[in-house]
Amino acid sequence: MKILIVGSGGREHALAWKIAQSPRVKQVYVAPGNGGTSSKKIKNVSINDINHLVEFAENLNINMTIVGPEVPLSNGIVDIFRSKNLKIFGPTKNAAKLESSKDFAKEFMIRHNIPTAKYSTFTDVYAAKLYVQKEKLPIVIKADGLAAGKGVVIAKTIEEAYNAIEDMIGDNNHNLKKVVIEEYLEGEEASFIVMSDGKNIFPLATSQDHKRLKDGDNGPNTGGMGAYSPANIVTPKIYCKIMDEVIIPTVKGMFEEGNTFTGFLYAGIMIGNDGSDEWVKTLEFNCRMGDPETQPIMMRIKSDFIEVLEHAINGTLNKAEILWDDRVALGVVLATYNYPEKPRIGDEIKQLPVETEDMTIFHAGTTISSSGTLKTSSGRVMCVTALGDSVKKSREIAYEAVSKINFNGMQYRTDIGWRAIK
Ligand code: AMP
Ligand code: GLY
Repeated sequence: MKILIVGSGGREHALAWKIAQSPRVKQVYVAPGNGGTSSKKIKNVSINDINHLVEFAENLNINMTIVGPEVPLSNGIVDIFRSKNLKIFGPTKNAAKLESSKDFAKEFMIRHNIPTAKYSTFTDVYAAKLYVQKEKLPIVIKADGLAAGKGVVIAKTIEEAYNAIEDMIGDNNHNLKKVVIEEYLEGEEASFIVMSDGKNIFPLATSQDHKRLKDGDNGPNTGGMGAYSPANIVTPKIYCKIMDEVIIPTVKGMFEEGNTFTGFLYAGIMIGNDGSDEWVKTLEFNCRMGDPETQPIMMRIKSDFIEVLEHAINGTLNKAEILWDDRVALGVVLATYNYPEKPRIGDEIKQLPVETEDMTIFHAGTTISSSGTLKTSSGRVMCVTALGDSVKKSREIAYEAVSKINFNGMQYRTDIGWRAIK
């Protein structure tokens, strides 16, 4: 088989790495890929736009395309591939609105009784400010559209809330930009990712991301600075709650509304306790896998992932099987100087330790220059991911490898997995 993976991040490297292990796969192409996605079985193709990807898939007789990031999905890559009878795994443009419009997602959750934070949507600066005055602080302000992880402000003061509203709506009200303003939820987050063929649901292993830049969950929000799987916080009871209250109603609700969801469905879940019982609430939906959650998840798959993907594309996910490694996988993201504000790129990555059975380096923002040097090319550079018998052990192996990597301005968190260890 020949597989095409769309994207260039650590998530796509991990998908390519896992899929290339299948004896049935002859070649994996990654478009456009990164400095790590080229080996004997993995090849980069420098294509970015959807029409050229269609042409490529047709000319090379690609058997299956998997889309990593949200932008091509929300631009309708799945609709276009399907109209040409090309096999692709992901949601249609309309179904991808679960991620591309927070307002759509919130209204959908209300229609289907899916637990989420109390909210209101505004296109008017003054009305939004008035609402904030009446609500409790901190309060969460979210831009409606895709914002690459930068569209959420947790405002601790009225001034911060006003600034966020002005930034997101703009100072004139003619462009009708929306903001969602919602109640701040106190709890612990987990990432719950499933695959759906439209009707059947196939849950992947649970995971936990680390969104803030700095240790102890401080500093600005980022795309994610590290993740591990499984997430202990998702006990069997919480797992059932998430499936029953969030995942099943979402897939069923999309189907019933004639907006069938196929693809990876990622629910960002807040887990809390009201004194008498635990609750789960949906913070967000993503219509794709998480980055960096994919890296530890892929490392834990022991069976052939391509078989699961085939079931997903053929609508037979009820027959899919997967074998998970019982060990914990934990990934530490290395980021550039000044990430996430204004990442400096072009720094030389001096050396990389040799990978082992239990340690893999998934590249993201790396590129190989014409002279053959590995350089940084965007904010999140790589994710060093390790398998170990416990969170502590996998963390030890990951950080041991991190200590051997060096580029100017390299930043990373030193506490990935701290909640699980605590
Ligand atoms: P989102 O893009 O909606 O997932 O938001 C990004 C991050 O902001 C989440 O992962 C949470 O850490 C935080 N966040 C979003 N909504 C809330 C909320 N209602 N209460 C507390 N934290 C939130
Ligand atoms: N790591 C969070 C995300 O992929 O959205």
